[in-house]
Amino acid sequence: MGKTYKIGLMGGDGTGPEVLAEGVKVIQAAAEVEGFSFDLTSYDFGGERYMKTGEILPDSAIEEFRELDAIYLGAIGHPDVKPGILEKGILLKARFALDQYINLRPVKLYPGVETPLRDKGPEEIDYVVVRENTEGLYCGAGGFLKKRTADEVAIQESINSRKGVERCIRYAFEYCKKRNRKNKLTLCGKTNVLTFAFDLWERTFHEVAEDYPEIETDYAHVDATCMWMVKNPEWFDVVVTDNMFGDIITDLGAITQGGMGIAAGGNINPEGTSMFEPIGGSAPKYTGKNVINPLAAICAGQMMLDHLGEEGAADRIEKAVMQTIAKDMQSLSAGKMGHGTKEIGDIVANYVRGE
Ligand code: IPM
Ligand code: MN
Repeated sequence: MGKTYKIGLMGGDGTGPEVLAEGVKVIQAAAEVEGFSFDLTSYDFGGERYMKTGEILPDSAIEEFRELDAIYLGAIGHPDVKPGILEKGILLKARFALDQYINLRPVKLYPGVETPLRDKGPEEIDYVVVRENTEGLYCGAGGFLKKRTADEVAIQESINSRKGVERCIRYAFEYCKKRNRKNKLTLCGKTNVLTFAFDLWERTFHEVAEDYPEIETDYAHVDATCMWMVKNPEWFDVVVTDNMFGDIITDLGAITQGGMGIAAGGNINPEGTSMFEPIGGSAPKYTGKNVINPLAAICAGQMMLDHLGEEGAADRIEKAVMQTIAKDMQSLSAGKMGHGTKEIGDIVANYVRGE
């Protein structure tokens, strides 16, 4: 008998619940084949619940989350709720409270996917961004002075602790070693301008590097990183960076791998409860139309199973996704896939079962 994993399902807003349903379909197919199972609990936190009850994400839910093996998330963000309330109150609250200090975002081009980098193929676009996920500009440190006057000042501070930076960099070195591809870790920063924050990052990077003589180290400013991600993506293997830069460069990475329809990520606490999600938003205009691409959510499910130690099941899902793209899909864009959201979920699940 295989294990039973306790998974919290949080569909969230917009198309989140739809893509998550397809992800669940696929992980369940993989679990059946590989002989393990899930104990699933659904949570309806999101814009609708907030507007009805005023509740965002209570501390009691965080306590329940701690007992889970992982959280599987759809998308957060509702057009009728002021931007920031749900994003900070649900997504960032979960990331911070559960100390998911790594945001792991693979950028991988599957065969047959259209990318704006036409002369780059799957060999050239295959790297992973390790984004620090609990510090930097996301801490909410700062404030207003003389708010709503002509002399108003707004300050938003980037918090970088030695501990926070070091654990992220160490995770990146370990990940690079385990990945065992090019064995190259690039620090993405801005040492020429952000001379405090990235001085700490750079010093820590070189100190930790001494424990990993087998890993080649490299440095690139964030602006140059954006350029190389388009011009020479094959230079990258694993990239480590702070929270804000990681947010920005992974949207760029996502578009080079075929768009938000395929880009997945993990919010990881290596010692606690991690949370896996498609990295795109809740796409309100496509909600309820069965047109959104569920592959990003399915790939997030694959990352979750890999994280839980079910490598066989994860591998099956990745191969099934590749088969679906190569044989069944006209495009990865919403509404242009040649199939509906549910049908793509069925196709991937069937390939997972070997049908
Ligand atoms: C992401 C998103 C979030 C972030 C938002 C929704 C708060 O853009 O996961 O990349 O900025 O981290
Ligand atoms: Mn983002």
